[in-house]
Amino acid sequence: MIEKESIFLKALNKETLPVPPIWYMRQAGRYMPEYRAVRKNFKNFLDMCKEPEVCCELALQPIEAFELDSAILFSDILTIPDAMGLDVNFLEGEGPVFGNPIKTAQDVLDIEDFDTESLSYVYKAVTNIKNDLPTHIPLIGFCGSPWTLAAYSIEGRSSKDFLITRNFIKENNAEAHIFLEKLTNACFAYLKRQIEAGADVIQIFDSWANLLSEEEYKIYSLSYITKLISLLKNDPTTENTPVILFSREPKAKLQTIMTSNSDCLSLYWSMNNIDLDQTANKVAIQGNLNPEILLESNDVIKRETLKILQKYKNYPGYVFNLGHGITPNINPEKIKYLTDLIRSI
Ligand code: CP3
Repeated sequence: MIEKESIFLKALNKETLPVPPIWYMRQAGRYMPEYRAVRKNFKNFLDMCKEPEVCCELALQPIEAFELDSAILFSDILTIPDAMGLDVNFLEGEGPVFGNPIKTAQDVLDIEDFDTESLSYVYKAVTNIKNDLPTHIPLIGFCGSPWTLAAYSIEGRSSKDFLITRNFIKENNAEAHIFLEKLTNACFAYLKRQIEAGADVIQIFDSWANLLSEEEYKIYSLSYITKLISLLKNDPTTENTPVILFSREPKAKLQTIMTSNSDCLSLYWSMNNIDLDQTANKVAIQGNLNPEILLESNDVIKRETLKILQKYKNYPGYVFNLGHGITPNINPEKIKYLTDLIRSI
């Protein structure tokens, strides 16, 4: 990787650029007919993630279609709980369902140690993708935040309010912390292996940060993310790899989130009122167009995109992205329109 050729790495290094680098969360996925053509060969989504050659093909699809400035590993955040024996399955129309969720305090104590090498299929995918990418296009590796992984593992499935999880952490507080600690160590080992296999940047997805009050967020989410980033920043193999933190609508102040020491903050689409004077030269910013805007006319897309570009025009380290992932109902033509628009301004 030759850093000076990658505008994405420059932005993460807090440089002001004339045109921002562009990539999209969930850039590989069901909205693309090319993806659906491959996906139909697999009943269970995780079985597809276990085929490194298929993951490589899927990660490259959006790069080829839209010439984006970064690729992201094709995999899922739930590989870690699956490797810990919680038996993750993706059922048609239901999202993830755990065959063996964490139900009791004893389940936390009995959980299998995370064997980093049991996810060697992920590291193989990283190396394959890296080998196929042009040298100026970096590859993002990723994991879920310990809190987000714990919430899925305890709830056993997606949920609106995660009531089972909330009850669990109240009634089994010590074990909840033991579980979060185990997940933090697993995430570190997992990300280190992704970096060794070729990942240039890491993104941590705290997709369920929004479930927590400000106080709870600090205790159950931010403290473990901070520990994870500190492990990465203190290991010679991982210390120079930029870390992006995506948090879905956390209730904490930006100042608090910045104590995680991430290199870049990826803003959820509703986080559009932030004081850039507080973040400039301290942290790069990524985001944050509302993905639903991509269901509107090109005129509306243009208007909303210009607002964001104007706001971050002189910002030291800005990466264009959506405020959350591309949803299956978005027309790929809109992604093409948006990408070309940003580059034409
Ligand atoms: O380009 C990419 O971003 C692809 C790699 C990727 C996937 N999932 C593939 C995927 C990444 C980075 C993820 C992260 C992920 N997975 C998150 C964090 C991002 C976020 O949206 O907040 C979360 C919460 C998950 C867990 C997950 N995976 C759920 C809840 C679901 C089901 C809901 C859905 O969108 O279908 C998945 C499945 C999933 N992960 C799909 C893809 C392409 C769709 C699966 C299919 O084709 O059936």
